[in-house]
Amino acid sequence: MERRGFLRVVGGGVIAAATASASGCAQQMPSSAVAAWRKAGGATDPRRRAMNDAVGPHPVRFGFVGTDRPQLLARHRAIASEAWRIELVTPRTILESYKWLRVGAGEIARHRDGISLLDPMVVWLDRFGLLDRDQAPAPDSFATTSQIEEFGNAMASTPGFLWMVTEGNDRATQVEAGRAYVRVQLAATVHGLSMQPLSQALQEYPEQAKPYADIHRLLDAPRPVNTVQMWARVGFAPAIGPAPRRGLDAHIVRT
Ligand SMILES: Cc1cc2nc3c(=O)[nH]c(=O)nc-3n(C[C@H](O)[C@H](O)[C@H](O)COP(=O)(O)O)c2cc1C
Repeated sequence: MERRGFLRVVGGGVIAAATASASGCAQQMPSSAVAAWRKAGGATDPRRRAMNDAVGPHPVRFGFVGTDRPQLLARHRAIASEAWRIELVTPRTILESYKWLRVGAGEIARHRDGISLLDPMVVWLDRFGLLDRDQAPAPDSFATTSQIEEFGNAMASTPGFLWMVTEGNDRATQVEAGRAYVRVQLAATVHGLSMQPLSQALQEYPEQAKPYADIHRLLDAPRPVNTVQMWARVGFAPAIGPAPRRGLDAHIVRT
């Protein structure tokens, strides 16, 4: 709270008022000039407000649903669960993720990207040659059904979803959406919230067509004018460590 108060002062309110009374010709900030800060307004919960405000001047429509709208929340949970199920039972999409599995400390250190797996059981299965990364598990196998069940439990305990929609999808818009997302993530983290992006329903392969249509309809974001740039679940979760990084040099092309 102290930090928020400080930011408000730095943001102009108190300082501007003091200056105006000294000069005797009070001026007000034109409402239109600061409209961008209000666009996702209306939220009274301080955590939601902080996330709304973090979107700031970026040209992104930001939305949030929480437990105060249980029916809408249930729709989000259902679409996310169905999209996740489809990804898991579609061999070529699950194999796409398998390509990025990094199993055990050695592989994680070598690649420093992808999906890190440190679960001892998976590491041992891999060591004994029992983890076939070229073969998608059957839809009714334990590997698939247990993940679907786990994700269902995660959805059932998720108290909120947020989304970011843009008009257009050129590179500059994508970068703006990324900036807005990172700022929202930082604001959420400050307030003790965790976020997990959900990409499955936003993907454009044929098996995913229904969840794709459902989420675009639910977010009032008809294609092709609108693009849902991010959809994420938000809530309270145990702290997790940072994801691997390759470091700046690995990303810079030197000529
Ligand atoms: C555009 C985008 C889409 C993502 N989609 C998913 C997703 O569908 N499921 C998921 O578990 N994590 C998803 N993530 C989260 C990443 O897997 C990863 O956990 C996160 O980016 C790690 O944060 P860090 O790289 O800032 O440490 C997504 C992240 C981004 C940026």
